[in-house]
Amino acid sequence: MSMLEKSPRGEPNASAACNEQSCLTLLLRLQPFPCLVVETQTARPLLSNEEARRMRLSGPPMAPGLSPCYATDDSGDRIEPDQVVSYLIGRGAGGDGVELTWHDSGCPRFFRIVSRAVPRGEGSAPLSVLSFLDLTAQRMAEVELREAVEARDEFFSVATHELKDPLFSIQLSTQLLRHSAEREGPISPYVLQHLEVSERQLVRLGRLIENMLDFARIHSGRFTLELEPNDLRDLVDQVVTRFQGQAATNGTYLTAEPGPEVHGRFDRIKIEQVLGNLLSNAIKYGAGRPVSVRLRAEADSAVIEVEDSGPGIPAEDRARIFDRFERASTGHKRASLGLGLYIVRTMVEKHGGSVGVVSEPGRGSTFIVRIPRQQTP
Ligand SMILES: Nc1ncnc2c1ncn2[C@@H]1O[C@H](COP(=O)(O)OP(=O)(O)OP(=O)(O)O)[C@@H](O)[C@H]1O
Ligand SMILES: [Mg+2]
Repeated sequence: MSMLEKSPRGEPNASAACNEQSCLTLLLRLQPFPCLVVETQTARPLLSNEEARRMRLSGPPMAPGLSPCYATDDSGDRIEPDQVVSYLIGRGAGGDGVELTWHDSGCPRFFRIVSRAVPRGEGSAPLSVLSFLDLTAQRMAEVELREAVEARDEFFSVATHELKDPLFSIQLSTQLLRHSAEREGPISPYVLQHLEVSERQLVRLGRLIENMLDFARIHSGRFTLELEPNDLRDLVDQVVTRFQGQAATNGTYLTAEPGPEVHGRFDRIKIEQVLGNLLSNAIKYGAGRPVSVRLRAEADSAVIEVEDSGPGIPAEDRARIFDRFERASTGHKRASLGLGLYIVRTMVEKHGGSVGVVSEPGRGSTFIVRIPRQQTP
């Protein structure tokens, strides 16, 4: 038999009800958050703890001289304290989704209200228990976390941007050094070797910075496409030529299979970066085995394939490597950010296309990019 319930013969059992009421009162008093028992039909509070009374959820209406307080709901509508219970009952007992913001003289507090119907005997007025879970600390932590993430993103974006200028001037100086050395006759093998190391590392640094910049742009919502009529065959040829030096240093035989012209509206720089990231991976992970690039036109799409004969990618890793900061479990020791394929996927999807990988462990991988040829600007 529960509090306020009747005996089997329908008469109130005074002492049992009294005991249960004291237990329940004690239980409510022990709760660290506002808590009430209310009559569901009338929204009349029957029992409440000190916390609930302090918020004036039960008891007499606000006495003069007390600082004003009120609640607002998720649409910002104001609810007076003595109306809160009827508001909550109106939203239905038995749920835990209603959230209210509480305003008094201090900082606003945030509550999620958990309400439960109390199972009762037949003929007894239905009751509900309302518990106000205080989410304020959690909300503050969320705000602090969001601000910290924003500050990190801002720092990431500014720092990456600042890296571009010195990189550009070192690239320029290296080019000038090479030209000046070439003018004076054959470059000594020692100088040439170090020049080539510098050039390779500069290209690598450039790609890392570009990926980091794009990552920052994607996350701040500043990523846009510049769609213009382009021929992908020309683009593929240029990027593959640019990668020949890196491939040769790695002992990789890199080829572009002759294909048709594939015209469409693309963002040239972004597609160059897509292909660049795929080629950089194929050379980096391809164990010095041949890498080939193919281009073809399908009815509405352009398809670029980059095939290597490296170690392949285990089936369980094939989806997640396209997520940011993900690397496959094959345990390569090379320093990498795990951003290349994330940038590839994002850029291709921004073009309305898709990217996937077909791979056989031990026999290589083929990355397949599909981009619609006609983009809506
Ligand atoms: N051609 C490939 N063969 C085998 N594994 C690959 C290949 N391409 C990518 N991977 C795996 O997928 C992971 C994710 O690749 P992704 O290009 O996103 O990052 P990364 O190369 O590790 O770093 P970043 O490109 O940012 O310098 C790689 O770490 C590697 O484990
Ligand atoms: Mg990569």
